Amino acid sequence: MPNPAKLPAWAALKTHVTDIAKLHLRDLFANDAKRFEVFTLEACGLFLDYSKNRITRETMPLLFQLARESGVEARRDRMFSGEKINSTENRAVLHTALRNLSNTPVMVDGSDVMPAINAVRERMIRFAETVRSGEWRGHTGQIITDVVNIGIGGSDLGPLMACRALHRFGHPRLKMHFASTVDGDQISSILARINPATTLFIVASKTFTTQETLTNAHTARRWFLDSVGDEAAIAKHFVAVSTNATAVTAFGIDPANMFGFWDWVGGRYSLWSAIGLPVMLCLGPDNFQALLAGAQAMDRHFVEAPLEKNLPVVLALLGILNRNFYHFPSLLISPYNQALDRFPSYLQQLDMESNGKTIDLDGQRIVDYETGPIVWGDSGINGQHAYYQLLHQGSQGVAIDFIASIEHPDAPPPHGPILMANFFAQTEAFMRGKTESEVRAELTQQGLSGEALEKLLPHKIFEGNRPTNTILMQTLTPESLGALIALYEHKVFVQGSIWNLNSYDQWGVELGKQLAKTIEQELIASEPATRHDASTNGLINHYKQRLLGA
Ligand code: F6P
Repeated sequence: MPNPAKLPAWAALKTHVTDIAKLHLRDLFANDAKRFEVFTLEACGLFLDYSKNRITRETMPLLFQLARESGVEARRDRMFSGEKINSTENRAVLHTALRNLSNTPVMVDGSDVMPAINAVRERMIRFAETVRSGEWRGHTGQIITDVVNIGIGGSDLGPLMACRALHRFGHPRLKMHFASTVDGDQISSILARINPATTLFIVASKTFTTQETLTNAHTARRWFLDSVGDEAAIAKHFVAVSTNATAVTAFGIDPANMFGFWDWVGGRYSLWSAIGLPVMLCLGPDNFQALLAGAQAMDRHFVEAPLEKNLPVVLALLGILNRNFYHFPSLLISPYNQALDRFPSYLQQLDMESNGKTIDLDGQRIVDYETGPIVWGDSGINGQHAYYQLLHQGSQGVAIDFIASIEHPDAPPPHGPILMANFFAQTEAFMRGKTESEVRAELTQQGLSGEALEKLLPHKIFEGNRPTNTILMQTLTPESLGALIALYEHKVFVQGSIWNLNSYDQWGVELGKQLAKTIEQELIASEPATRHDASTNGLINHYKQRLLGA
């Protein structure tokens, strides 16, 4: 892949953005009455309004040219066909095969991966059906009421987010719990609320070596055996989801109770694999299939639609524009459906672990362009009463994706319209801002004048001109959620391709893990730590002293 900053389209975009940067978004709307019609797109049940970006009709062709010059389409085809585009790990990238419900062969190393995918999914379905129906019984013969997923990162965030987002479709008897952190508090508080005889633990780890997950899993296992006292009962209460059968067996889970997946499924792209087992248990196999179908529809759209009408491509290119040409350091994800409150955290891993890199595919340090933005967010309506102040009037701009559904089936009147009024109002406020003359007129109407008015005036001005995307779906359903997630997966892919990155490795998480192993030993040693810098030694020794009460 070429260095994007050396491409003709990049240079053209730079000149173009310098030309239009002086125009406020208000001007852009005033200059083009058809802006909404021109800059909206709909596919797979998702409607995207991108007219509130700092673009003109000349901008988008330049961005599409950049995508073409970068070879995005060829790389996309290589990914879908099972080529090993994850070059640092020599792996294919085939989360799309997991939702290939049409079952067309997908070849890796000369063999079709579809039979194995289908076989695992069939086992998941059978298992989920027996648990949901009550046929699967715990060691005392009681039915399962609680499911605890023990996993972290991609083995936690996707299932947690999807179960919350689609809780309306959840099984009425099954309570879902998620344990990820190693602080002990989280797992302990879950264990305090459940009954070992009616609980199913899912130990979810692609590698089955992740310290946090294994520590939590061992704690759960000890707690279970302390209560039950019979190792044979484990088979009825512990299942594993992993690519590592040896480690699963060593942990004490029968491989018959293991649901496998493959090294070509990245952790943050694994929701569609057996990692989605909690989702299938909670929502049922049909809804899980609908989630896959929604994602598959987006896959097809991504492959088939021309770049100009391609949702992931358009979203990715706008992100490139905001990151590389307007230099916005972060992207806020603002969902207005409370059920999507964990969607920003999910996207955070998806985007930041994929494109948070500065070494390109050729092993060269990237010096002439910025890569992945900081992705963050929470429920949008809560954000309005917390951090939106800075976004409206702070010293740095932030790009924002607003997400909402049109229908809110469980919302009693007047919740839906109030929520959506706020949703639309915020996108308008970020675009328009409030000018000095508007504030002056408003204050005058309120009866203010003279010094009092002049004093208050500057505080009430909003610059506006903040770029936002608005994504609307009809209702939050398994299909629409599947399409929404796949939209962002492909967006991240397109951006990684243009930035010339391998979006599918994550070496940046290794150093902390290595250092933690050493420090763990030092924390239990009797002598003080001396091998680190003064701060780290000091902190370790301070901790040890205080822990021992010295
Ligand atoms: O440390 C980061 C990471 O490797 C993520 O990429 C991954 O999703 C997470 O840890 C959990 O890994 P595993 O599923 O192997 O336990």
